[in-house]
Amino acid sequence: MAAQTLLSSAAASSSLSSSFEDGESTKNVSFLSAFSPAALHCNGRSNRRISSKKTQVVRCSVKTQEEQIYATQVKRNPNFAKLQAGYLFPEIGRRRAAHIAKHPDAKVISLGIGDTTEPIPSVITDGMKNKAHGLSTLEGYSGYGAEQGEGPLRTAIQQLYSKISPHTGVKPNEVFVSDGAKCDIARLQMMFGSDVTIAVQDPSYPAYVDSSVMMGQTGLYQTHSQQYSKIHYMKCSPENDFFPDLSSTPRTDIIFFCSPNNPTGAAATFQQLEELVSFAKRNGSIIVYDSAYSIYITDDSRPKSIYEIPGARKVAIEISSFSKFAGFTGVRLGWTVVPEELMYADGSPLGEPFPVIKDFNRVMTTSFNGASNIAQAGGLACLSEEGWKAMEDLVGFYRENVSILVTALKSVGLTTYGGENAPYVWVHFPGQSSWDVFAKILEEANIVTTPGSGFGPGGEGFVRISAFGHRENILEAAERLKKLFG
Ligand SMILES: Cc1ncc(COP(=O)(O)O)c(C=O)c1O
Repeated sequence: MAAQTLLSSAAASSSLSSSFEDGESTKNVSFLSAFSPAALHCNGRSNRRISSKKTQVVRCSVKTQEEQIYATQVKRNPNFAKLQAGYLFPEIGRRRAAHIAKHPDAKVISLGIGDTTEPIPSVITDGMKNKAHGLSTLEGYSGYGAEQGEGPLRTAIQQLYSKISPHTGVKPNEVFVSDGAKCDIARLQMMFGSDVTIAVQDPSYPAYVDSSVMMGQTGLYQTHSQQYSKIHYMKCSPENDFFPDLSSTPRTDIIFFCSPNNPTGAAATFQQLEELVSFAKRNGSIIVYDSAYSIYITDDSRPKSIYEIPGARKVAIEISSFSKFAGFTGVRLGWTVVPEELMYADGSPLGEPFPVIKDFNRVMTTSFNGASNIAQAGGLACLSEEGWKAMEDLVGFYRENVSILVTALKSVGLTTYGGENAPYVWVHFPGQSSWDVFAKILEEANIVTTPGSGFGPGGEGFVRISAFGHRENILEAAERLKKLFG
């Protein structure tokens, strides 16, 4: 019926073809053949009439029976079916959107996802601007660059490590520039393959666990423990100063370790990292050390890089990012260091040890074509003297935000962790479900936070509050939180 109504109206129009835009599923088929077995929807309604007097733009979506039931013969990768309830942040986004739909006038403040909010300093964007303009000239144009990154940027990153400590020993050829740390986590997992065993801090940044599941390194999700089988979750809580008890940690091939940690904000001490490195060495494991927040470390007794620890070059890969250093979450730029000394047990023609760096180089040259040259110019500007100073000012701004939030939360008697060396405050709500606390804060204070359990079962009873926000929003959020919990 609907199709007939539309067809007769449309037929009366002299500008029939211009009256329809191709919708997502709309096919360039004759009307008659398209309509007969089909469900037809126009602008969300199935029987919209079209005026014959004037041309209207109507979005039509014609689904033939064949389209509705057609499936390829390709089986879904069963590892994807193991993944739980979507990735954490899209889930939070869905709940935020539902809240806004229910309360359209609410002034919602987002301190959830951990996205930066302040403008990139102009000394850094000038670097990108000049590069972008150069691309429109014959002399300045460049196409594909090296997959591993441009030489000057690799050298500048190596110099950053030398400044952190003369003992890091990082060489420019060990630095792989990328489009971000998250992408590098996935590339490292691709390199490790499906046979490795992994350990993660619990709680931890979800990409380590989810990429492991996708790669087939895990068994099924266990509802009772809220853990995937075959992953070892290293509990990090206030009781153990957010550092795992390694004496009860089994050997795994790979250990993901993030410091300062997302979400707890805890930064490991020299002594703790020395313990971790010797644990990895004893077990012949590889540490993937995520230093995406190292610039937030204020306390000199906490290393900024795993390579400050003697012996780490033999057991550790480090991933890092300009995202939280300089507000590059949208620009996209990060890096991974793979030391030449890091060896697989086998892999050489005679079964002898094989350098991991060679396989990572192969991954980068096969699955990546180099970070954007404009982004790399931005990275180079970040690491100039002026750029570094501007980044420190930016980070200083977020540190002040943290302190506003911590002061407010403590003033109403809440227990908080993190914050000192990280842009995250980890707030304890003992005995409460973190999704319930998340819902209460959203519902009653219009603030989006992140439920701790989204980072692993060890995050239950906590919520993470991000200090990335405009100052007026942070001040407003602090007041609302005081009112809610005071
Ligand atoms: C610990 C950690 N690692 C990596 C990332 C992702 O960094 P990038 O933006 O470089 O992909 C994040 C982002 O929030 C993070 O928290």
